Amino acid sequence: MASKRSDAVLEDREFKAGQRAMWALGDYHEFARRSLWEFGERLVEACGIGPGQRVLDVAAGTGNVAIRAALAGADVVASDLTPENFEAGRREAAAHGVRLEWVEADAEALPFADSAFDVVTSSFGAVFAPNHQVVADELLRVSRPGGTIGLMAPAVPARNAGFSQMLAGLPSTFGGVSPLRWGDEEYVAKLFGESVESLEMSRRRTELAGFADETQLRDFLRAHHPVAVELYSEAADDPEAVAMLDDMLLSVINLCYARGEGEAGSFVQEAVLVVAQTRSVTLAS
Ligand SMILES: C[S@@+](CC[C@H](N)C(=O)[O-])C[C@H]1O[C@@H](n2cnc3c(N)ncnc32)[C@H](O)[C@@H]1O
Repeated sequence: MASKRSDAVLEDREFKAGQRAMWALGDYHEFARRSLWEFGERLVEACGIGPGQRVLDVAAGTGNVAIRAALAGADVVASDLTPENFEAGRREAAAHGVRLEWVEADAEALPFADSAFDVVTSSFGAVFAPNHQVVADELLRVSRPGGTIGLMAPAVPARNAGFSQMLAGLPSTFGGVSPLRWGDEEYVAKLFGESVESLEMSRRRTELAGFADETQLRDFLRAHHPVAVELYSEAADDPEAVAMLDDMLLSVINLCYARGEGEAGSFVQEAVLVVAQTRSVTLAS
């Protein structure tokens, strides 16, 4: 009879294979370029990334952080569970005249040596791995003493702050633990524990331009966002299910995006920026 441990290993392997297949759907790069791209630049600035530093970007997608870090002069490794998206990342990097190393890796089992990096980043990425403590431990392990860990975590707009805690408590499609929990300072402080010297969390906003209304944004997400593409493909033969998904996606848009104040017809997306400095000296246990 299989042991509980081997059951758990098998379950984790199947879950990660499912996540990988999902993130390879649609056109992730197109989605990222029009929505999350600017967060990459903000994260690189917030972590003070510059020439000569060795940087690991975890769950890098098509490289919005990694490419900016390379443009800032760092020596960069971009890692992700879904190597299907690396080709788009390589093309984007080449268009900007930079080269980086692309490595397939699970954020919960990074194939890198202890203390290998000066800065470890992850934008809307590592937060999707289900075992938050394992992820935090891995980010700390590969980061050198006195190094920097920088994350962008999804957040609902301030006007929906009341829903934020409720949503963070709901089981999510990402292994039963909501990625929104990474926006809670007390929770993140516990994950990093005594291994960090400082922890700063603040909000950042970027604008998605060019969507006249919620319906246009919904149709864009439906066509490009891997999670939406997967849900719609499962419902493809059932017009009622498709109509339900359409309504649900509009509700998600209303909850997760605010209307932009600048260009007419644009939306604002918010994130929580997390910057932690790891201890320069390991505490005696
Ligand atoms: C929303 S995308 C973010 C990608 C990129 N950082 C960006 O900002 O555009 C989420 C990424 O997390 C990756 N991912 C999900 N679970 C992961 C895991 N356990 N380990 C590593 N990457 C993971 C997915 O493959 C996907 O590329």
